[in-house]
Amino acid sequence: MNTYTNLKTGTADGVRVITINRPDKLNALNRQTVSEIGQAVKEAAGDTEVYGMIITGEGPKAFAAGADIKEFSGLTKEQGMELSRAGQEVFQSIEDCPKPVIAAVNGFALGGGCELAMACHIRIASSNAFFGQPEVNLGIIPGYGGTQRLTRYIGKGKALELMITAERINAQTALQLGLVNYTVPPEMLMPKCMELLQLIRTKSPFAVGGVIRAVNACDGTPNGYKAEYAEFGKCFTAPDIHEGINAFLEKRAPSFR
Ligand code: CAA
Repeated sequence: MNTYTNLKTGTADGVRVITINRPDKLNALNRQTVSEIGQAVKEAAGDTEVYGMIITGEGPKAFAAGADIKEFSGLTKEQGMELSRAGQEVFQSIEDCPKPVIAAVNGFALGGGCELAMACHIRIASSNAFFGQPEVNLGIIPGYGGTQRLTRYIGKGKALELMITAERINAQTALQLGLVNYTVPPEMLMPKCMELLQLIRTKSPFAVGGVIRAVNACDGTPNGYKAEYAEFGKCFTAPDIHEGINAFLEKRAPSFR
């Protein structure tokens, strides 16, 4: 496993845990951290011993308090665009990862931190978590996909409100809005993530990847349906379908590799 400057990584029961490790800066996402997250997700995606990932933040206070504001001073328009583009690329690689990625949101998920959580497939929040896109306080807009993903998750009206007021919401409100899948007491955060991943582990990895790709193709146009039938067809080329169907006919649990 690679070592990283701003991340801690480890594997438990086939789950790669990627922990942003800048707690004294509330895990603010400087360029190096964003790049390392991209590398760590790619590394885990290519590791046959790993079937799923958890991204979380070190310390009791923050998942990630946003992009590192100190890196914004003096940027030109072109440099700003490039910073945003590079972050978007990394976060898109998380959304496109064929293995499930869960955000274990253990505290503040603001700005780029909220955007990172939204790039993950599932979000589980500890009850002390806060979410928000406070960029307008700084004279900027969300740049790591927030304007798009927040709108997709909670709808245009509420997403606009949160982004133009910069108001923070707590975990319970995030749950009500559909921004997170579950909210749990802090001590249950990692166990809940592991429980979900262990359930997913019993499913066909090929089909799980196909679901992720087809769902990601949902853009309100017929493209999503085309992606679905293409992914559906691909399932017939993989060994998992034989195991799944045989297990059903033999009245036993499937065992996917
Ligand atoms: N960037 C850089 N440093 C940050 C940071 C950030 N986003 N958030 C916190 N820190 C640093 C603070 O500067 C401080 O460092 P020092 O001790 O060296 O001064 C340390 O983390 C602790 O932070 P605070 O003392 O501020 O902690 P607090 O408990 O009083 O407040 C907070 C917590 C409300 C989260 C506050 O830190 C805060 O408002 N942070 C900024 C949140 C924000 O605006 N995020 C959006 C960033 S822009 C962005 O993300 C753009 C994009 O979409 C790509």
